[in-house]
Amino acid sequence: MSKQIILAMGLTDGYGNLHGAWRAPNVDPNNYADIDASVRYAQAAERGLFSFLFTPDFPAVRGDLEHVTVSNVLDPIVSLTAIARATKRIGFVATGSTTFQEPFNLARQFKALDVISHGRAGWNAVTTSDAAVAANYGRPVSDRTERYQRAHEAVQIVQSLWGSWEKDAWVKDKARDRFIDSSKLKPINLQGEHVASRGPLAIPPSEQGQPVIFTSGGPSPHLLTLAGRYASGFISEVWTIEEARAQRQMVRDAASEFGRDPDEIKYFPGLMTTVAPTVREGLDRRIALAGDVIEARLPHLGAMLGLHLHPERIDEPLTERELAAARAAPTDPRSGIALDVARLGWSSRDILAHGVIDFHPTVVGPGALHADHMQKWFEAGAADGFWVSPDVYEDGVDAFVDEVVPLLQERGIYPNEYPGATLRENLGVPAQYGIDSRADGRTSM
Ligand SMILES: Cc1cc2nc3c(=O)[nH]c(=O)nc-3n(C[C@H](O)[C@H](O)[C@H](O)COP(=O)(O)O)c2cc1C
Repeated sequence: MSKQIILAMGLTDGYGNLHGAWRAPNVDPNNYADIDASVRYAQAAERGLFSFLFTPDFPAVRGDLEHVTVSNVLDPIVSLTAIARATKRIGFVATGSTTFQEPFNLARQFKALDVISHGRAGWNAVTTSDAAVAANYGRPVSDRTERYQRAHEAVQIVQSLWGSWEKDAWVKDKARDRFIDSSKLKPINLQGEHVASRGPLAIPPSEQGQPVIFTSGGPSPHLLTLAGRYASGFISEVWTIEEARAQRQMVRDAASEFGRDPDEIKYFPGLMTTVAPTVREGLDRRIALAGDVIEARLPHLGAMLGLHLHPERIDEPLTERELAAARAAPTDPRSGIALDVARLGWSSRDILAHGVIDFHPTVVGPGALHADHMQKWFEAGAADGFWVSPDVYEDGVDAFVDEVVPLLQERGIYPNEYPGATLRENLGVPAQYGIDSRADGRTSM
């Protein structure tokens, strides 16, 4: 079978990824603390054969909460454990900090989720540089070198703990009164400069052995080394196909450097979605919810295009003269996208409603536009899959599953059923138990 797109859904809160989603008419504002809402969204994504839910995690109260929502799930591991009990195939990639969490806790919680979900867990290992999060743990943000030293130690300890209960250690022989083969459940005795653990971990292997390691961020040499050594998935933030292709290649090269097959690491750019019968209806949906933010971004759009855009002309297309003078700011990869949208004749308000200043490329309109975007990136070698951020979870996940997924299937670039039962099988990444010996050979602890 030829290679197919792998889909993930970012689960960030109870509402959606469009500013104002919590105020949508069909959204219950209680959803942030209502696990049944998250379960509904997970089940909808599972109906669309999504391989996993991805929960970013910034455990802090940040931003203007008077008007904007908290952008986390309550707690990734606790929430995903509840969701695991209400789903069968979809996987769970939760973020856990190598800087602020102890490796023993990480190893225990993620492997517990893996066992409870029957082999559907993954760990997005991040070093966390957010000052508000650091403050919640009562510590300053340390420099990048130190955070990454600790990250290498933490991942090695976690994977060693996962392997410390060997695959066939659990004898369970009632007749011989033998529960465990104690020669196969051994301490790891790892002592790093920053973290340490004795072990072993009292959790047996799951159906996929152990959780799948992911990481996310920009392609700094520090992060690429971490990814190349340990990760089977890389979650990114890129706006153009060229940027994504180059970054995916860097991630693959990093894996090769550590003696791994580059196909063992899957690269996931983001995609924000508004599925609607027409582009106009999609833009109107976005303007109805996020109109205030859209208006406030007009000067930013002007700066991206090198123009002074007047608020009183926000509902008019750019003039011939403005279009001739417009220059995409070279420092912001989103500027070129904004200029392309402007050239189609949309008003400034509509250009902004296209999501040109959002966190990821945004597609607004019929399912075919979404499928076209993904097919183009996938076939250009810019993605192995996408992490999709629907505008409003309550109806945006179902719309994606009903309008986009069938088109991908018709085009032969998306599976018609789950490839397997575990996250590893659904990602197409190899089995692993304990630390990867290829990475271990280059380890310092
Ligand atoms: C797509 C994406 C998702 C991310 N998710 C998280 C997250 O959930 N939690 C977090 O602390 N940092 C997250 N980050 C931030 C990076 O991992 C961040 O770079 C890292 O924590 C700090 O390391 P650095 O010094 O390499 O930037 C994310 C970054 C990107 C691009």
